[in-house]
Amino acid sequence: MKRLLVILFFVVLAAPALARPDPDVEALLGKMTLEEKLGQMNIFTSDWDQTGPTLRGQYQQDIRRGRVGAIFNAYTPEFTRKLQDLAVKETRLGIPLLFGYDVIHGHRTIFPIPLGEACTWDLGVIEKGARVAAVEASADGLHWTFAPMVDVARDPRWGRIAEGAGEDTWLGSQIARARVRGFQGNNLAAPDALLACVKHYAAYGAAQAGRDYHTVDISMRELWSTYLPPFQAAAEAGAATCMTSFNEIDGVPSTGNGYLINTVLRGLWGFKGFVVTDYTSIEEMIKHGFSKDAAEAGVQAALAGVDMDMQSAIFLNDLGKAVQDRRVPLAVVDDAVRRILRMKKLRGLFANPYLCSDPARAKRVLMSPENRAAARDAAKRSFVLLKNNGVLPLKPALKVALVGPLAEDRRNLIGNWSAAGDGNKAVSVREGLSARGLTLIVAKGCEIEGGDRGGFSAAVATAKKADVVVAVMGEAAAMSGEAASRSRLDLPGVQRDLLAALKATGKPLALILMNGRPLVLDWESENCDAILETWFGGTEAGNAIADVLLGDYNPAGRLVTTFPRAVGQVPIHYNMKNTGRPLDPTNKYTSKYLDVPNDPLYPFGFGLSYTTFQYTAPVLSAASLDARGALRVTATVRNIGKRDGEEVVQLYLCDRVGSVTRPVRELRGFQKIPLKTGEQRTVSFTLTAKDLAFYRRDMSFGAEPGDFDVWIAPNAEAGVPARFLLTEGVTLAPPVPKP
Ligand code: NOJ
Repeated sequence: MKRLLVILFFVVLAAPALARPDPDVEALLGKMTLEEKLGQMNIFTSDWDQTGPTLRGQYQQDIRRGRVGAIFNAYTPEFTRKLQDLAVKETRLGIPLLFGYDVIHGHRTIFPIPLGEACTWDLGVIEKGARVAAVEASADGLHWTFAPMVDVARDPRWGRIAEGAGEDTWLGSQIARARVRGFQGNNLAAPDALLACVKHYAAYGAAQAGRDYHTVDISMRELWSTYLPPFQAAAEAGAATCMTSFNEIDGVPSTGNGYLINTVLRGLWGFKGFVVTDYTSIEEMIKHGFSKDAAEAGVQAALAGVDMDMQSAIFLNDLGKAVQDRRVPLAVVDDAVRRILRMKKLRGLFANPYLCSDPARAKRVLMSPENRAAARDAAKRSFVLLKNNGVLPLKPALKVALVGPLAEDRRNLIGNWSAAGDGNKAVSVREGLSARGLTLIVAKGCEIEGGDRGGFSAAVATAKKADVVVAVMGEAAAMSGEAASRSRLDLPGVQRDLLAALKATGKPLALILMNGRPLVLDWESENCDAILETWFGGTEAGNAIADVLLGDYNPAGRLVTTFPRAVGQVPIHYNMKNTGRPLDPTNKYTSKYLDVPNDPLYPFGFGLSYTTFQYTAPVLSAASLDARGALRVTATVRNIGKRDGEEVVQLYLCDRVGSVTRPVRELRGFQKIPLKTGEQRTVSFTLTAKDLAFYRRDMSFGAEPGDFDVWIAPNAEAGVPARFLLTEGVTLAPPVPKP
C-alpha cells in the first residue's frame, strides 16, 4: 500500500516534469550529430586575468567546433559577444552559448556576503540584492549565475558557511526562494534575468570536521530534514539549474548519485531545469574511489542524471563511445541536451543570442547610484550588534582612534566570491567615518595575519590621544569561501593581543568585526565595550558602518549562525536534541563539557539594538488544535528604550514527544517589525498542522498528535513557552523513496 502511494505521489508530482516537447528544441535535436549533442553537455572556463579576459585558443577552437554548450568566467558585453559570434556564426548549427559566472552577492556593486545578508531577516532586502546582481550581471554579458548556495552550514570551521544562509533549514528555505526570485525575475527571457543555479546538491555543508570537500556521512532523516528542504524550496521556486556537490554521502559522490538527481530532484520535486556538476566533479569520482577511470565516471554521471559536465571534458571525450557501446542509452544524452536547449530557449537566446551583450545597457546600470544605495541599505541591515555597554552610537564630538588592519582596507570589504567587484571602488571604514565629519586618528597596529607586533606602540599612543577606540579587525576575505577551512576560530594573527594593549589604555573600546564565519569571541566579549559584527559588507561597507556607528541607523541584524564559546563545541546549533541526560550542572553524568558551558556565546537569532524590546509571554487562541484547524499565538512586543528601532520577532516550536526525537526548538516563523520608542505591537502567528510536520519514523512527512511548546522570543534561547495539544495526526506526504 505504501509503495503504491509513493508511486501515485510520483506520478502526480512528476507529471508536470514531463513537459510537453518543445517543437523548436525537438527540431534542433533532430539535426544534431552525437558529437554536437555531447558538445552542448560541456561547460568550460575561459582564462582571464586581472587586466581583462582573454581566451585560450583551445577554447576558441572548441567553441568553433561546437564542442561547448556554455562558458564561465567570461563577461563584459564585448567579450561575450566575441565568444557568442564563434558559436553562432562559425558552428554548423549556430547554437548560442550560455554564459555563467559566480555572481554570489552582487556583480560589480557588491552586497554583503550571503551569510551577512541573511542576518537582515528581511526577505525583501535579500530578493532585492539578488535582483540588483541580476540586473548588473545580465548587462555585463551573463545569462546564468552559480547561485544561490543553499547549503545548511553548522560548522564554522567550514569556510563556505559564508556563502549560505546559516544554520537553519526553515529560514534557509525562505531565503533560497527569495534569492531564486530575485535572480530570475518574472520572465527568464527578459534581458535582465539571470538563470539561478541552486547548489551544492547535496549536504555539502555537512563535510566532516568542517574540512572542505570532505566526506559526508549522515542519516537519511538528517538528509531529508536538514539538508534537502532548501533545495526543494528553490526547485519549487523555479530555479533553472542545479549544481551537484563535491562530497559523497554514504559512500556515493553526489555527481554519480541517481537517487538525488533522477529520483528526488526530477522525479519527486518535478525539477525541469538542467543539472551541472561542480568543477571537475565527474573526474573527481576517480579519486573518490567510485569510478575506475574517466570513461566509467562519465557513464555514472550521465546515468545519475547529470546534464552538463563542468570542466572535466569527460562527457565530451568519453561519453560518445559509451553510447556506441550501449552503456549509456542515446535517450539519456538526448534528454540532457533537450533540457539544456530548452533552458537556452527559455532564456531568450534563440530569439537573440546577444541579448546580454549591449554596452550601452552595461554603462547605464553597472554600479549605478541606485545599486550602490541598495548595497548600502542591505549592508547596514546585515550588521549584528553583539555587545554594547553604551559606547555606541558614537557621539560625533568625540575624537576617535581608528585602529586595526581593516580600518583603511577596501579589498577585503567586498568579501570572497566578489564576482567582477573591484575592491578599489569599495568605501573603507575610514572613508565612511571621515565623510561624516568625524575626527579620526588612525593607526593600523598589525596585519590581519602574522606575528608582527611592531605597530602596537603607535596604535597604543594613538588610543591614548583619543576619547574612544574603534578597532576594525577580523579575517581576510580569502579566509572564508571555497578551500578556506580553519581549525582555530579566534581573531587571526596578533589582533587579540593588540586589542588587549588597547584595552590597557583604559579608553572605551568598540570592536568592529569583519569575517566570513562565526568567530570565537570569549575574550572580546569580556573585554570590549561594544562589538558590531559587520561580516564583509560589500562595496558600501564603510558608509553603512558609519550609518550604524553614528546612530543614523539602529542595528537590527540577528544571527543566523551560532557563535560558539570554543571550537570544541562545534558543531553547535540551536536546534539540537535534548539527549537522555540533558545538562544538569549538579550531576556529573549529564551531557556537558568539563571545561566550557554547553550554551553558545551568542545564540541563533541574537542581536542587540540601541533600544530595548520587552516581550510578554505568548498567549494561545485555544489550548488545542486538530489536523485541519489553526491556532493563533500572540505576544506583545514593546520598545521600552529611548530610540526607534526594528525587532525580529521569532516563533519557535518544540514537539515534546515524537516517533523519533525532535529538536529542543525549531524556528517556524518570524516578523520584522519597526517600533517607535514607547510603541508596542501585538504580533500574531497562525499555526496549522503543516507547521508541526516532520519526517517521522517511517520517513513519511506529517504531524503527530501530542503536546507542543511554543515561544515568541527575541532569539533561540530566550522567552517562556506556552503549551498546546495537537489532537490528531496528519500525513502530508508518503514515505520518501529509498535510495
Ligand atoms: C567550484 C565551487 O564549488 C562552485 O561553487 C562554483 O560555482 C564553481 N567552482 C565554479 O566557479
